[in-house]
Amino acid sequence: MTRSARQPLRPGEVVLVGGGPGDPDLITVAGLHALEEADVIVHDRLGPVSVLHDLESKPELVNVGKVPRGPFTPQERINEILIEQARAGRRVVRLKGGDAFVFGRGGEEWLACAAAGVPVRVIPGVTSAVSVPALAGVPVTHRSMVQGFTVVSGHVPPDDPRSSVDWAALARANTTLVLLMAIKYLPQITERLLESGLPAQTPTAVISDGSLPGQEAFFAPLGRVAATVAAQDVVPPAIVVIGEVTALHLHSAQASDGAAPQDGGQ
Ligand SMILES: C[S@@+](CC[C@H](N)C(=O)[O-])C[C@H]1O[C@@H](n2cnc3c(N)ncnc32)[C@H](O)[C@@H]1O
Repeated sequence: MTRSARQPLRPGEVVLVGGGPGDPDLITVAGLHALEEADVIVHDRLGPVSVLHDLESKPELVNVGKVPRGPFTPQERINEILIEQARAGRRVVRLKGGDAFVFGRGGEEWLACAAAGVPVRVIPGVTSAVSVPALAGVPVTHRSMVQGFTVVSGHVPPDDPRSSVDWAALARANTTLVLLMAIKYLPQITERLLESGLPAQTPTAVISDGSLPGQEAFFAPLGRVAATVAAQDVVPPAIVVIGEVTALHLHSAQASDGAAPQDGGQ
């Protein structure tokens, strides 16, 4: 039996809603209905936060977003808030950027609710890993060019004992690489990929604030992309896309006289 993503919220239930990359038009229909029915919305900094203040139902808003190098609500406390609110009989939405299960800790929140006996379900969202490249004109796959894409977090550098990513294997994988949370350690990550044999000329794109009014896209070969990001002062949130597909965009953006594409914003 198929279950519709769009079901009325029940008192005492938690719904994990993926809100998409930030543009309020990129939340799903089911996600928007859940926001409209919620008594309380526990939300992050990323995602379609602008939509929250326009909700006619005027739910309580609890901001647990992590400000870079600023205050944050520990994950354990976020789990507690969800459970406390549900046990108070409220209809609870946990709104996240992108998709809740793509580097969103949605699985942890699901497990915490389930362990506490709180009913929980998920409404999938449009992940930034695919939508942000698309909005910059970069398809993550392209027939006859690449047969897959790999999404990896770059929140720890390759040498860090906490890193479980096999960067050398990724350099050989022949798929588009999509890196999230990779701006801080981009120099170390690109260095490792180059050492592992990925050519320095590999076309690369960096897209910040995807889908938002400040969206910017920068294009540079892999060997120069970290310097471009530093020179342009690119700050998170940003997605790094490594692979020939990023050149498709460069090609379409070229001047008709065939002038060479430039590094930098566009
Ligand atoms: C903690 S992860 C959350 C990912 C999210 N769950 C998703 O599916 O998109 C945060 C990272 O996602 C990426 N990201 C999220 N929204 C973005 C946006 N609008 N523009 C560019 N990158 C974004 C950035 O790499 C950011 O550091």
